[in-house]
Amino acid sequence: MKSCQVRIAKTEHELEAALSLRRQVFVDEQHLFDGTDADEHDPASIYINAWKNGETLMGTVRCYADNDDPTLWWGGRLAVKPEFRLRGVGVYLIEAAVEEMRLRGVRRFLAKVQQQNVKLFEKLGWKTVGGLIWIHDHPHHIMEANLHVYDASGRKRRQFIQG
Ligand SMILES: CC(C)(COP(=O)(O)OP(=O)(O)OC[C@H]1O[C@@H](n2cnc3c(N)ncnc32)[C@H](O)[C@@H]1OP(=O)(O)O)[C@@H](O)C(=O)NCCC(=O)NCCS
Repeated sequence: MKSCQVRIAKTEHELEAALSLRRQVFVDEQHLFDGTDADEHDPASIYINAWKNGETLMGTVRCYADNDDPTLWWGGRLAVKPEFRLRGVGVYLIEAAVEEMRLRGVRRFLAKVQQQNVKLFEKLGWKTVGGLIWIHDHPHHIMEANLHVYDASGRKRRQFIQG
């Protein structure tokens, strides 16, 4: 998508926009959380946002280092606004997160993926590690990115705008 710019949130406005979109998707739409989806990982997370024409937030994902092992990072709260779904924004965000982990020299990158999204991650080269887990009554699988393959899906690497 030509008008899609993916970048790490730096300003208060960009951070607030990410948290607001997340809330809309995980609290209001999916009812995965009651009232708020904020948690203890938020303060130390990086937020990767996908913007349309630099001003409309289409999607977001956060990444944070594991509490016990700083070489292991978790991705999560991947959310695309309903009106922008199925246009490749989710894939952009997942690829941008993986690229960011590679740049940071992360050893492992994991995510707790909702069961219905496992196929999407598999298409991008992620593998399921471990069994089914339940988070707030929703089935999830822990999945791991392949950080060592240039492009697992054969797609063209997209431009990831940082800064
Ligand atoms: C899951 C989500 C992030 C996907 O974002 P998206 O922008 O719609 O996804 P994309 O358009 O990048 O999808 C890319 C591909 O995956 C497919 N796809 C998208 N969602 C899928 C799903 N749930 N299961 C299987 N395939 C899926 C698309 O058909 C598309 O296939 P293609 O590349 O062969 O054309 C979005 O639907 C969303 O925000 N859902 C609600 C929150 C959520 O479930 N978050 C993820 C938690 S793990």
